[in-house]
Amino acid sequence: MTSSILFVCLGNICRSPMAEGVMRHLAGPSLHVESAGTGGWHKGDSPDPRAQAATTLRGYDISAQQARQIHPDDFTRFDLILAMDHSNLADLRVSQPSASTAKLAAFLPYAGLTQPRDVPDPWYTGDFEGVLTLIETACARLKAHII
Ligand code: 4NP
Repeated sequence: MTSSILFVCLGNICRSPMAEGVMRHLAGPSLHVESAGTGGWHKGDSPDPRAQAATTLRGYDISAQQARQIHPDDFTRFDLILAMDHSNLADLRVSQPSASTAKLAAFLPYAGLTQPRDVPDPWYTGDFEGVLTLIETACARLKAHII
């Protein structure tokens, strides 16, 4: 059984905070959900204002989240670590300690989506609404079929 999920992207201010907010909202208190970045540049920052605006419009509140970098303990604290794209997954595999017990996977394929395979980074594209729609679809599938 999956009782904890860590969503991971690069900066932890756009994609994974939105995924954390959507999944926490969908799954409720029975699932422990956090997010982190492979990089630490935004440590302590709130989610990008554009991510907050897009999520607020759809009824999710991610304003209290603070960015953090992945920590070695995460690989034993979480059942499942889901990377937003193949680059994030490759970085996680490099930093995965030998004692790691978590299952590592790419978010969209793990949720059963074949196209696209990566969550596009809205930090670069500006398409926060489109990315949020993709995240909502994948989280709903995760909840229905996997957890
Ligand atoms: P995220 O997007 O990985 O979805 O949080 C990014 C946010 C910030 C940067 C890159 C990606 N950055 O280079 O600062």
